[in-house]
Amino acid sequence: MILQKIKESIEFIREQSQIKPKVGVTLGSGLAQFAEQIDIDCKIPYSDIPHFSPPSVDGHPGHLILGKINETPLVILQGRIHYYEGHTMEQVVFPTRVIAQMGIETLILTNAAGGLDPAMKPGDFMIISDHINLTGNNPLIGPNIQELGLRFPDMSEAYDRELNSKLLKLLTDLKIRHSLGVYCGVSGPTYETAAEVKFLRTIGGSAVGMSTVPETIAAKHMGLRVCGISCITNLATGILPGKVTHEEVKETAKKVEEQFTHFLKEFITH
Ligand code: HPA
Repeated sequence: MILQKIKESIEFIREQSQIKPKVGVTLGSGLAQFAEQIDIDCKIPYSDIPHFSPPSVDGHPGHLILGKINETPLVILQGRIHYYEGHTMEQVVFPTRVIAQMGIETLILTNAAGGLDPAMKPGDFMIISDHINLTGNNPLIGPNIQELGLRFPDMSEAYDRELNSKLLKLLTDLKIRHSLGVYCGVSGPTYETAAEVKFLRTIGGSAVGMSTVPETIAAKHMGLRVCGISCITNLATGILPGKVTHEEVKETAKKVEEQFTHFLKEFITH
């Protein structure tokens, strides 16, 4: 039973820290450094937490971190597991469900994504206004867990408008290059073909990536306020000549990691 598993994970985490987080942050590819900037109370490897699956991808350390920024108690998922690693959707969203049940009200999801708009530049940020689920799956398929949420959750405001406005203002004030757009969530692990990228642009996508969508769905099911930030690490296939590589994705994220850490800290504390 998922509920029982969530309860066991939380019991284990609560033995390590008394912090009652109000905000959750999931750190994507190359953006793990943010976690080192907070006042850490405890840092637990996923492999120690009952029912957590350790991530297998380079650039994704797997730690659950509890701590504070100024007076805000928060929990960080430093690294995530992905559907393409072979995990079930239930496993992919399990850590999100755990931190939601720990009492957070707001979840900030971050990721690396390929830009679909030629006006974008690697290193830009994109605030996620909405998403298109193209994974071919959904973490809520199966019997509904009534204790977590409704059978048919509303997704009309998957990404919180108020948080997005605040984030837009902050990035504008800090003169950080950014846009607001639609995130297309695909399964991966292949990067897209040029024809797929054309398709994604046609259906209204602004960026494409292999994460976030299942987590947003699970978080909305549980009634959280969600905010998503993509680091545009590269332009998707066919927008510029050349190949897309994981090295480029990691390198770009690393370059803007300091900037990212700075604005995320500001965002959470103001
Ligand atoms: N496509 C899909 N996922 C990604 C990309 C991309 O171009 N860049 C970073 N994650």
